[in-house]
Amino acid sequence: MKQMPVDVKSLIHEGAELTDHALEALLPSAETVPASIHGAMRHSTFAGGKRLRPVLAMQAAVTIAGKLPRGIEQLGAAIEMLHTYSLIHDDLPALDNDDLRRGKPTCHVAFGEAIAILAGDALQTRAYEALAGLDAPPAAVVQIVGLVAQATGTVEGMIGGQVLDLESEHTRPTPQLVEAIHRAKTGALIRVSVVAGGVYAGASAADVACLDIFGRKAGLAFQIVDDVLDMTVDSAHLGKTAGKDLATEKATWPAVYGIEQSQRDAAELIEEAFAALAPYGSRADGLKSVARYLVERKN
Ligand code: IPE
Ligand code: IPE
Ligand code: MG
Ligand code: MG
Ligand code: MG
Repeated sequence: MKQMPVDVKSLIHEGAELTDHALEALLPSAETVPASIHGAMRHSTFAGGKRLRPVLAMQAAVTIAGKLPRGIEQLGAAIEMLHTYSLIHDDLPALDNDDLRRGKPTCHVAFGEAIAILAGDALQTRAYEALAGLDAPPAAVVQIVGLVAQATGTVEGMIGGQVLDLESEHTRPTPQLVEAIHRAKTGALIRVSVVAGGVYAGASAADVACLDIFGRKAGLAFQIVDDVLDMTVDSAHLGKTAGKDLATEKATWPAVYGIEQSQRDAAELIEEAFAALAPYGSRADGLKSVARYLVERKN
């Protein structure tokens, strides 16, 4: 089939708008008692994130179903709440100690540490409430909840990756260690965004296997690029403090391989990821274009 050029900017823009509408409906208003925490949850959620995980979920669903399934924005919103919770906690003084996120003061700078910790917790519980209410067959909902919980947990999931990341500061990282960190702290949530989007759209076990391979490779590439951007783009464009990884001697991909090799590795991983989508032909064009954006982005 002829390849249609995909306008990735509008694909991302439309997916982000759908996600924002769903988030707006799911998050209590800033006036709802207790107002401080709802203000904090909204401050971080609506600070201008790229919404790439929801967009990946949507395009994975299109890859499986041929069109955007109704209600998928609630899945995207739940994933974005989990991602935002992970960022609020990542920025805390006890973790990366950052004061700039998404171009705004971090949650703990704006609302204090106690409310920031609780806002992260609250985004997590609200995310599972949203997942439980997904408009999908009960078996798919249960599968998604299990996959998402695993991907954000301690065994090869986001929290486990954060632990490895913190415990590896000021050490000389090996290739194995940095790969384990990146697959877990960031790759797992990217991978599950793709897989859950597919499951929402009715993916078979064989589909899940393909999406999982794609998501693993794209997820690793994403964190490699995050590391490169930390070293090559200024804080104003990043919306977060640039140069932070070197200053804190983080275990990053460039620390092991250098910037140029890191850029080549990310590009190569995306090409490898595409191979897993071969069975879907042009139905995967949107997903591929978003994946390409993951490594070509400048913030
Ligand atoms: C940043 O993720 C944190 C990582 C996991 C590397 P994004 O680059 O997707 O951040 P936002 O959501 O656009 O702010
Ligand atoms: C963050 O990794 C991963 C998670 C939030 C789980 P980083 O610490 O590199 O993310 P940034 O650079 O602060 O966004
Ligand atoms: Mg971190
Ligand atoms: Mg950080
Ligand atoms: Mg980073």
